[in-house]
Amino acid sequence: MTDIANRTAFITGGANGIGLGIARSLARAGAKLALIDLDTDALERAKAELSDVTEVFTAVLDVRDRSAYSRVADEVEANLGPVSILINNAGVAGGAPASRLTYELWDWGMGINLDGVINGVQTFLPRIIERGDGGHIVNTASGAGLYTGPGNVLYCTAKFAVVGMSESLNAELESQGVGVTVLCPGPVATDIVARTRAAQPKVTRSMSAEQRSTAFANNEKVKKFLENGAQPDAVGDMVLAAIRENSLYIHTDRSSEKPIIARSKALLDAMPLNTKD
Ligand SMILES: NC(=O)c1ccc[n+]([C@@H]2O[C@H](COP(=O)([O-])OP(=O)(O)OC[C@H]3O[C@@H](n4cnc5c(N)ncnc54)[C@H](O)[C@@H]3O)[C@@H](O)[C@H]2O)c1
Repeated sequence: MTDIANRTAFITGGANGIGLGIARSLARAGAKLALIDLDTDALERAKAELSDVTEVFTAVLDVRDRSAYSRVADEVEANLGPVSILINNAGVAGGAPASRLTYELWDWGMGINLDGVINGVQTFLPRIIERGDGGHIVNTASGAGLYTGPGNVLYCTAKFAVVGMSESLNAELESQGVGVTVLCPGPVATDIVARTRAAQPKVTRSMSAEQRSTAFANNEKVKKFLENGAQPDAVGDMVLAAIRENSLYIHTDRSSEKPIIARSKALLDAMPLNTKD
């Protein structure tokens, strides 16, 4: 999609971090912005900043809430015109060791990281197709949607699904004028760890003191890892470029390279030998 100016972009998790970086890039390209988030203070700050650049509409919405989702979609379109750029980006980190996961945690993590994306697509894709004026969907997954590691079962389950969904949508929508991009960031310098800690259902109560301190140390390690990652504004520019060039994948660095090679090799090695050879 090359005609970004004057289109309306709906960005979930648009008040902070990567979502705000994407909002800044799209605003500079002339798109009108619907910023969707749960963080009211951050929404106000983002609106104050970006209203100088473009038209901005903000709404408090939990992306898990299907009926509120379509109501907010209607409000956005009444105020800014038809949404043709959908950025399903709201997400949380978190989780627990596999043996400590609870149904509450599964519902919370899958609800935001996967159902939130489904709700965005389900709400807007029929409208975009019906209008026939083209569109672009960006789904934020993660490197953790392409390879796995220990302690990440909940997050990987949702993010792998987001990658699969995006690839399938891309195969189907290509011929209908709707582009699809899946953003698979490596580390990005945001406050997702602290924000997740504040929002996540408590699991630590059932942990021993030692497990709690290991979980804390791991959290601190992840925090440091992200601090040294890409800047959200740079990721925003990558997303803008991917929309313009209709690229399916975005990696923000090469940190996924070795794990993807190892996973692909393991998959290929598991295939039966061709009996004709
Ligand atoms: N930061 C990283 O290193 C990194 C790496 C890979 C993938 N990601 C993914 O990028 C996306 C954005 O993460 P970020 O690092 O910018 O985090 P962030 O915490 O800075 O921003 C996420 C935003 O989503 C909002 N949000 C959370 N739950 C919500 C809900 N239920 N409904 C509506 N809004 C909600 C938060 O309030 C916040 O403003 C997430 O999907 C995350 O999984 C981040």
